[in-house]
Amino acid sequence: MYASLKSIGAYAPSRILSNFHLEEMVETSDEWIEKRTGIKERRIASAEEATSDLGVQAALKAIERAGIAKEEIDLIICATLSPDYLCMPSTACVIAGKLDINNVMAFDISAACSGFVYMLSMAKAFIESGMKKNILLIGAEKISSMIDYTDRGTCILFGDGAGAAIIGATENKNEAILDIHASADGRYGDLLITPGCGSKYPCSQETLDNKLNYIKMQGNEVYKVAVKTLTNDVIDILEKNNIDASQVDHFIPHQANFRIIEAVRAKLNFPIEKTVLTVAKYGNTSAASIPMAINDAYEEGRIKKGDLMLLDTFGGGFTWASALVRFGGQ
Ligand code: UT7
Repeated sequence: MYASLKSIGAYAPSRILSNFHLEEMVETSDEWIEKRTGIKERRIASAEEATSDLGVQAALKAIERAGIAKEEIDLIICATLSPDYLCMPSTACVIAGKLDINNVMAFDISAACSGFVYMLSMAKAFIESGMKKNILLIGAEKISSMIDYTDRGTCILFGDGAGAAIIGATENKNEAILDIHASADGRYGDLLITPGCGSKYPCSQETLDNKLNYIKMQGNEVYKVAVKTLTNDVIDILEKNNIDASQVDHFIPHQANFRIIEAVRAKLNFPIEKTVLTVAKYGNTSAASIPMAINDAYEEGRIKKGDLMLLDTFGGGFTWASALVRFGGQ
């Protein structure tokens, strides 16, 4: 019995924040942002939308495309760094409530931008052990709620959105999640951090005055580690599975920065046509980034059942992960 990615869905809020809008907010330019990141615009959720609302929209699509009834779902996991509530209830529980899927295990994971691939490895284990049959995974972010829109080092990068997938079982290895590598190195935690409003610096007027509730990033340091780590990790997973880069149908990287994607792609000699790119229109949507990219390629008709996808991702923690996944959907 293998675990299989049976369906994909995504949701992007309608409001667009372009580089030109950002030019009016901070000392930056469309030219600088596009040249250094490849981003042209990103989506921003409305004041009425919480992370769970984005997740629900993505989940509904994934459930419909999987051709299952919501009552068949027996586990819900949500990866997010911008949960509806700081501690409880989890965003997975809020989503379960909104979808009216009751009496199933539901919880969040915290692995920043690597969240989707991290929970994919958990879903693989749950399915292959026979413990669960149909798992709903949601990567959802209202990351705009964590951004200081006076900090040009972060506000140009991130956007809101959600992606979801149904993971089920298959006996056919040609439709299976083949392998996942997920790892972390906590020594780099301070380079990408939201310092405030946790137990270390509880929410207080001082915490808010010092803007500790927002994402802080030493971008250039993150960039250097990301390129090196991702390149090594992708080479490693291909070698361990005896798969040549030419056998990969779709390279679907985390959409943080076009230059990071390009460095890994060039090193592995993946053709650009096989690389899925959404960074220009969504920016970095953290845990939603990879499922949103898979969904875009799926809706464009690029991904067919049995196609081999190579996923890679890197984020705060630091966390990183890569996966070899044969698409199991219709
Ligand atoms: O998903 C989680 C993982 N996160 C990432 O992967 C993000 C990784 N980091 C990055 O994508 C890049 O480091 C950034 C896009 C954040 C920054 O690009 P960079 O090429 O690393 O720029 P830098 O930080 O080295 O800064 C170069 C210059 C500096 O000016 P000086 O000191 O050379 O005069 C910055 O002050 O660019 C300046 N700068 C800007 N200029 C215009 C930094 N941000 C901006 C900006 N607009 N938004």
